[in-house]
This record gives sequence, C-alpha cells and structure tokens, in this order.
Amino acid sequence: MIYFDNAATSFPKAPGTGKAVCDFLENASVNTNRGAYKMAYDADRLVFDTRTKLARLLGCGDSERVIFTSGVTASLNLFLMGGFFGEGDHIIISSMEHHAVTRPVLQLQKKGVSVSVACAGKNGILRPEEVEKYICSQTKAIIINHASNVCGRIAPIAEIGDIAKKNDLIFAVDSAQSAGVIPVSAEEMGIDFLAFSGHKGLLGPQGIGGFVISERLSKILPPFTLGGTGSLSDSFEMPDFLPDKYEGGTLNLPGIAGLSHSLDFINEIGIENIRQKEIALTDYLLEGLKSIPEARVTGGTEGERLSVISLDFPGRDNSEISFLLDNKSGIMTRVGLHCAPLAHKTLGTFPKGTLRVSFGYFNTFEEVDIFLKALKKLV
Ligand code: ALA
Repeated sequence: MIYFDNAATSFPKAPGTGKAVCDFLENASVNTNRGAYKMAYDADRLVFDTRTKLARLLGCGDSERVIFTSGVTASLNLFLMGGFFGEGDHIIISSMEHHAVTRPVLQLQKKGVSVSVACAGKNGILRPEEVEKYICSQTKAIIINHASNVCGRIAPIAEIGDIAKKNDLIFAVDSAQSAGVIPVSAEEMGIDFLAFSGHKGLLGPQGIGGFVISERLSKILPPFTLGGTGSLSDSFEMPDFLPDKYEGGTLNLPGIAGLSHSLDFINEIGIENIRQKEIALTDYLLEGLKSIPEARVTGGTEGERLSVISLDFPGRDNSEISFLLDNKSGIMTRVGLHCAPLAHKTLGTFPKGTLRVSFGYFNTFEEVDIFLKALKKLV
C-alpha cells in the first residue's frame, strides 16, 4: 500500500496520535470550561497547552487568539458567513482558492458583496501586484490560499500581508496545505485570520482545526456558532472575550488530544526537516517524470512548491490511470477537480481535472520508484 494523497489528509498520522485520542476517550473524556473537579481541570490544561503549542507554531503571541473549530472550512464559514460582510463591501480572493472560500463567497455575492479574483499565472504563481490592483475604497478584506491543493504553488503571503496593512484591510489566509509543512506566522505576515486544519500537515486527527485571529479583528468579527461556553451563563449574549466568543458548544476534545500529540512530534522533527524531506521527494519525482513524457506536470516543474504535484495525461482518462495505479499497484492518488475548479481553470485543467500525487513526511524514495515504474507501464 502506497499512500500519495496527503493533501486530502495525512496518513499515517504522527506516531502515537491514535493512542492519544483513545487514551483521552477511555481515561479522561470529561468536558472543559465547565467542571470544578480535577479531571475537568486536567482537560482545561490539555486545551490550554494545545492552544499554546499552536500559538507558537503559527506565530500568534497570545494563545487565547487560537480558536478551535472542526477545520478550515468551518473557520472560513465563521469568517465569511457570520454577518461581517454585507451589501456594498468588496473583497479580493485569488484564482487558486478552494471551495472552502469560493462556495461561501458565492453566497456573499448574492447578498451584494462584490468580489474580485486576482489571477495567478498558468503556472499557478500569484503576483502580489495582481492582488493590489483590485483594491478600491469599498475593499474590506483580502482572502488568499497560502498553498494550492491542486499544484502545490505557494502564494507570496508576506508581501500580500504588507499590501493589506498599507491599505488597512483585513487579511485572511487559508493554510490548509501549508501549516506544519512550511513556516507560517500570523503576526510576521500581517494575517488577521489564519484558518488551519489539524489533519493535514499538522498530522493530527480529522475534525479538528481552527483559526488564529488578530486582536483588531476579534473586536469586530461577530461570533457564528452561538451556544454554551461555560462562561457568563447568566447572559443570553455570547461572551465578548476570547476564545469563548467563537467557541459555542463542546469542543472536539479527543481531536485536541490527538493534535496536541502530533504537534509535539512536529516540534521534535522540526518544520525545516519536514520541508526538506518533502522537497527531496518532490524533486525526485519530477526528475523521474522526465522519462515519462506522457505525464504533463500541471503548472510546470520550475520554482518552489509544496509536495503536491498534479499530472495530466493528454488523450487519456486520468481517472482510469488513478484507478489502475490503485488496483494494480496499491498506489493511492486523488483524481478530479480537488474541490478547486477555479484553480483548475487557472491552470488550464478544467473540466478534465488532474491526477494528484501528494507526499507526506513518511513517504519514501522507494515508493516514488515504485510509482514511476507502475506509471511507465500504464502509459
Ligand atoms: N481539500 C482536500 C484535498 O485537496 C480535501 O484533497
């Protein structure tokens, strides 16, 4: 079995993550923020420590500004659909966005929010000037995907953060593919809203993720999920302090236990080492693909990218190749539009889509060799 679908979710997870989830469920599964007994305090400590680890990893000075949700999609829905944007507002997104942005944004358009799409090139590379040129007096926010889940291209978010700051705009970033794999710092990059996923590069379980919010945005962004927080229960309003303002309902505590464990693993290995390993695997694959001219690398082979490579086989059905790779050689890839049709339009692979290979820290060069051999045979 060879798993090359780490952009969908990482597998395997960091060693011991499953056990951490089970241990919590079997031995410590009480609620947080609500009980005045020792086990509840231990759970409070787990949540606090995990926020602190995330704050360090994602460049946020204050752990209370790390908010838990089920993942990037829930975080972006909170940001986009909670009433912060309304008629007359203007937002800028990039043409490399995932449906976690484009689907909510369509609903905003129906409510009178105007949207400009800053276009990346056919190679998937977005230039900051392309974003800047759309800024107008109605612009309220810029929302950018840090790294493409289709072709792995990395957006220049530090530069775009400078542009947002210069123009006093809210800057939101989708770090679904990048967190845990390349350095991301909300404060250094001028990001007001950084949505993260726990189950991809952070090597944790599915169903846990969240966002980091700047202090200035936390004062004006309304809460989305209204409910019990264990705090200020005499009031029918949501608390206006963090993290409670955005965390109505019981948190995914088994998920947090797993994520806490996987974050320790990432810190032990170091993001730089994870990145180096993934770059080495990607370069090795791209080199090997030179001997398979039937496989076209979407976005080209030059320049920096994550370990996410999309392939097209002109004249062939990409789905059939993906199916045969699995069926004959046990190699798992993801084929289609990857919930990002706008990105595929940008890259010239819409509506056919591509066969995507995405590596994680645990993949090996030997697996890449097996893949190349199997692919050669198929094409
Ligand atoms: N967005 C995830 C992917 O790219 C699920 O596969």
